[in-house]
Amino acid sequence: MFSVVVIISGGGSNLRALLTAAASPLYPAKVVAVGSDKAASGLEHAEEFGVPTFVVEPSRFESREAWAEVLLSNIEFHKPDLVVLAGFMKVLPANIVNKLTPRMINLHPSLLPDFPGAHAVADALAAGASVTGATIHIVDEGVDTGRILTQASMAVTPGISEIDLHDQIKLMEREQLVQVVQDIATGVLLLAEKEQSA
Ligand code: GRF
Repeated sequence: MFSVVVIISGGGSNLRALLTAAASPLYPAKVVAVGSDKAASGLEHAEEFGVPTFVVEPSRFESREAWAEVLLSNIEFHKPDLVVLAGFMKVLPANIVNKLTPRMINLHPSLLPDFPGAHAVADALAAGASVTGATIHIVDEGVDTGRILTQASMAVTPGISEIDLHDQIKLMEREQLVQVVQDIATGVLLLAEKEQSA
């Protein structure tokens, strides 16, 4: 079975959507572990579904690289076919990105390349964007710069709050994530460039 490790930092609503889909015997992927950089509330979803969790906190390490080595060891212990960053709010250093790319994807709440970074929804509102959306992309060494796998767009309701807009975007993201993991697991969507040209 195609196996997935999900890494979070927050509430984990996208994680929960994937766990729910993967609970069906018809879904072609399984979440084998969930990791975090802190005691995130979203880890409770994993516990509810009987999926093992791990927490690797950066503050316990002397450097980002040392932290990332231990995070990588925890991920690799579960031998995943795919790593999903679902609301993971840290930028990963090169030592972990180079080991996992292209088999690591990230969810981002904007239509990249517009509004990269940690405040995408607020930035889209501040810029007066009339359309925004959600992107899933391969993780590379940059901040939200990797190859885009899929995007979905929606109109921004005038006067909407950041929280409400983010909630609307997350509804799209959850469907997008379940579909993208299915497509990767079944080979409909290819991650490696050489797989694409083969
Ligand atoms: C999502 O909007 C994701 O794109 C962003 O963080 C949010 C995580 O939401 N990187 P949740 O924790 O899955 O509810």
